[in-house]
Amino acid sequence: ITLTKPAWLPEAKKTRIGNKDLRLGEGDTPGDRVKVAGRIHRLRPQKHATFITLIDGYGHLQCVLQAGDLTKTYDAMTFAQGTSLWLYGEMCKVPEGQSAPDGRELHVEYYEVIGASPSEEDAITNRVSSQQNQWDPAMLDQRHLVLRGDNASALMKLRAAVEWAFVKTYKEMNITKVSPPALVQTQVEGGATLFSVPYYDESAYLTQSSQLYLETVLPSLGDVYCIEKSFRAEHSLTRRHLSEYTHVEAELDFIDFTDLLDHIEEVTCRVIDNVLSDPESAAHVKELNPDFQKPVRPFMRMKYAEAIDWLNAQDPPILNEEGKPHVFGDDIAEAAERKMTDIINKPIFLTHFPVEIKAFYMKKDPSDLRVTESVDVLMPGVGEIVGGSMRMEGYEELLAAYEKQGIPAKDYYWYTDQRKYGTSPHGGYGLGLERFLAWMANQHTVRTACLYPRYMGRCKP
Ligand code: 4AD
Repeated sequence: ITLTKPAWLPEAKKTRIGNKDLRLGEGDTPGDRVKVAGRIHRLRPQKHATFITLIDGYGHLQCVLQAGDLTKTYDAMTFAQGTSLWLYGEMCKVPEGQSAPDGRELHVEYYEVIGASPSEEDAITNRVSSQQNQWDPAMLDQRHLVLRGDNASALMKLRAAVEWAFVKTYKEMNITKVSPPALVQTQVEGGATLFSVPYYDESAYLTQSSQLYLETVLPSLGDVYCIEKSFRAEHSLTRRHLSEYTHVEAELDFIDFTDLLDHIEEVTCRVIDNVLSDPESAAHVKELNPDFQKPVRPFMRMKYAEAIDWLNAQDPPILNEEGKPHVFGDDIAEAAERKMTDIINKPIFLTHFPVEIKAFYMKKDPSDLRVTESVDVLMPGVGEIVGGSMRMEGYEELLAAYEKQGIPAKDYYWYTDQRKYGTSPHGGYGLGLERFLAWMANQHTVRTACLYPRYMGRCKP
């Protein structure tokens, strides 16, 4: 049979699923008549009725089609996950003893299919297996369909909330947002991970960090931040490295190293509070990471040299990448860092890294010139989520640092000029948004914290 719009159908209010202000029918009290569009998320045909869980990006809605004309149409018999449709009906309270999202259900009186979805071999459920992990390459190939799932979509909603929390936090702290360029001709974090791009008759890179640009506007804008993409041609496949990631960076003027550490702690905690103060976002955190605990302040502060001792003091000792005990000057590799963070199991400010293993622009610690005023923030389950430092203030010192690293000073004239025209004690940091999310939402890898992750070997979909 085909369905025609019944003449008796009451006037319906067009709404989204997320609308919580609707009157729910119960007993003799009628509910609001609504018209709602969405896609079939789950389908349960039963003898007396067909149950649909409808999604529209704003929530889940249980819809009930009583067995009869409504369920006997060709459309109804070929309903499938993904089918988009208009549903008309009455919003009602879920009967006693049953449960549904928000305690309500739509008693459907009429529907119009907008776009059918295949229910046979090509069905979404066949292409996207819930048995597989979302970071499995086969699932990443189907990312556009995986994103329709509850888990992936909750994470993307949380991502939006976290990004908003950063914006809100910086606003509260009177820090101005700027938007530095993505196409640049300078490196920040070493030549090994630069992506080159042809740029008319010149060559350019995709930015690794906006830090140098942020520094240039301190004199006129005061403290600044940006949330931009950074690009790294990482040649290793790890759980936490992407080729393209969202970088939250801030730069603060007239501060000392302690101010910088205090600020990072403050921002981290305010962002978490801002996320959790929104009931919807708090629900997403609960859903994705039921054991999430707000970190306890003050964060642990540990010097690099102490970390080396700590690694060697473990039983058995946590070894370096060559399988030997760590010595001062070693990079603490991802595996060792992760073990340390997981054992300590709380946020750690790891500070004072040796000059040799850190970037050219970092300020040396006046009380120990072997080390820099630098910090990595380490989180359990993920490891480093923030890298920051105080910046070198002297003109000559900076020129010497370029020279030492083989950086062509002429390309950096605009950065060097900051030391020429009224230098200042300043510092800043960069936070990987995907790593922050991986920590907050307890993800195995940063790949699932991206809409469409980019890493070596993957640039699709
Ligand atoms: O430690 P990094 O390289 O520091 C900088 O880029 C500084 N210039 C930032 C600044 O001071 N304004 O990177 C900062 C953070 C890391 O702690 C990590 O969270 C993230 O950026 N990050 C990556 N995230 C995903 N994939 C990658 N390949 C990343 N590289 C860095």
